[in-house]
Amino acid sequence: MGINELLNSTQIGNWHLKTKIVMAPMTRSFANNETGTVGEDIVHYYRKRAKDGIGLIITEGINPSPRGKGTFGVPGLYTNSQVDSWRKVTEAVHEEGGTIVAQLWHVGRLTHRELTGGLPPQAPSPIKADGLVHRLRKPYDTPEEMTLMDIKEVIQEYALAARNAIKAGFDGVEIHGAHGYLIDQFNCEMTNKRTDEYGGNLQNRLSFMKELLMAVINEVGKDKTIIRFSEIKDDIPGYRWANPEETIKAFIQVFHEVGLQIIHPSTNDFTEKMADDMTFHQLVRKYWDGIIIGVGNLNPQTASKAIAEGTIDLAAFGRPLLANPDFVQKIKEERPLKPYEAAIDLKYLN
Ligand SMILES: Cc1cc2nc3c(=O)[nH]c(=O)nc-3n(C[C@H](O)[C@H](O)[C@H](O)COP(=O)(O)O)c2cc1C
Repeated sequence: MGINELLNSTQIGNWHLKTKIVMAPMTRSFANNETGTVGEDIVHYYRKRAKDGIGLIITEGINPSPRGKGTFGVPGLYTNSQVDSWRKVTEAVHEEGGTIVAQLWHVGRLTHRELTGGLPPQAPSPIKADGLVHRLRKPYDTPEEMTLMDIKEVIQEYALAARNAIKAGFDGVEIHGAHGYLIDQFNCEMTNKRTDEYGGNLQNRLSFMKELLMAVINEVGKDKTIIRFSEIKDDIPGYRWANPEETIKAFIQVFHEVGLQIIHPSTNDFTEKMADDMTFHQLVRKYWDGIIIGVGNLNPQTASKAIAEGTIDLAAFGRPLLANPDFVQKIKEERPLKPYEAAIDLKYLN
């Protein structure tokens, strides 16, 4: 099978994408640690991907509030100077004919007060995570249980950050509801022990995500809002949904109710079977006929095949794009891809 499926241009709502290749969101920690602004190096990094022919760029996780920060050098979208700094990125990407959305990321309990301006981390329940904070290398802090007022406030922060993203020239936003961060902490029975309407059964636990999506859609529109969700959690290796298909159905019910059009189910292994001899993305496709972004150790061949089969519409690549800033040109010209090497590829913003 060829890779033409991947290289074809496509129209998704108002976005004209040069290819079906998506840059997966990747935290790089090169923003100004004090101000959360991005500089010329980051403008250049994203411009290069757009010029190469990436159809849709999803940025690194961007904090909607200072308390959403989980490591050093993460950018924000809650001050005017942050908005102005991102505008240079979006202008550069648009000059190259690219499309770019901002990933909005609140880490919830997966942080430490040294990173969140001295205030304890926020979470659905006051349950400390196991492990060490990324780069700070200290144990995770015990989070503060969010009050109903805190919940309203964080939803408003997301809505404002989404509005700011549009002000900064982004083509849309991706809500990071995956990998064990704040939204996923509400969604998951291990981290959400609330006894109010945001806790208890799965439907209640998903209601934080639902209200947050409604608030974001209200600001920027359904055609400009993507949700990323997952079973996998960065802090709980081996976590599994007790009933994957029922869980996926419940998530998708919420996505239908709020009117989403594009979803981004995340796994580290696209080919892994989840239930009933089907992969995560195949199970999602059973219940969702809107746009699906696939991801998880894909290569150009597996991605093209999944698009041709109709399992996914767009294919996201993470590590291969760090190792190969000229990824699209290389696969067009059938040149070999350089393998990803964290020690080299994470060190510089290439
Ligand atoms: C350095 C690095 C940083 C990442 N940061 C984020 C992030 O900020 N938000 C997110 O949703 N996923 C993040 N991820 C996960 C990727 O988006 C992607 O799902 C994962 O790397 C699997 O795709 P791949 O096999 O093509 O690399 C990160 C991955 C890497 C390697």
